[in-house]
Amino acid sequence: MDQGIVKLAPSILSADFAHLGKQVGEAEQAGADRIHVDVMDGHFVPNISMGPVVVQSLRRVTRLPLETHLMISDPDFFLDEFTEAGSDSFLVHWEGNNNLHRTVQRIKALGKRVGVVINPATPAAALEEILQDVDQVLVMTVNPGFGHQHFIRTTLPKIRRVRQMIDGLKRGCDLEVDGGIDATTAPLVVDAGANVLVAGSAIFSESQGVAATMQRLRSAANR
Ligand code: DX5
Ligand code: ZN
Repeated sequence: MDQGIVKLAPSILSADFAHLGKQVGEAEQAGADRIHVDVMDGHFVPNISMGPVVVQSLRRVTRLPLETHLMISDPDFFLDEFTEAGSDSFLVHWEGNNNLHRTVQRIKALGKRVGVVINPATPAAALEEILQDVDQVLVMTVNPGFGHQHFIRTTLPKIRRVRQMIDGLKRGCDLEVDGGIDATTAPLVVDAGANVLVAGSAIFSESQGVAATMQRLRSAANR
């Protein structure tokens, strides 16, 4: 199923942090739709990454929306700080959040876009009661925590199910995928119904440079 123009969300987790502003500028020039910022706390996932200071610095160098993927145990505690730093949207996990509806409403009250994320082992049905309230759904196609992982193919039928749910309940809701997305897997997820692709290593870890890798990914996705 083709959802029209596929949007690209480069994940800076794989960027060169000594040249972060430059690399984000290249992604913007190359037509990125948004910048995906992976926040990890060493507790919700077994890795530590970045916090609001990175968002604050990026806010000064790009006009692109800064999409903040919170892989942290208590997202509610940090929403204000990221909002002040310049986040435009938040992606919060279904897993481990006993009050997801409240978190979603808090993000909306801050005037920000909100998305709910489900891990590979979480069924699509978990989204049923929250779908009406969100602007996007993010289906993890790897277990969260690290870049450079292999795409989990068994997530494809779930992406199809989520696409059906969105078409039935919340048309216009973005269906985003994250993890192991490259020129080989992009056509598979787009065919299953995804319309926003997060990609880290496929964009920032290749020697050809950001413009070339994004072009490659875009043509594969829109094939
Ligand atoms: C993983 C992160 C991803 C990661 C994707 O926990 O949420 O955004 O950066 O990296 P790649 O594209 O290399 O799989
Ligand atoms: Zn992510």
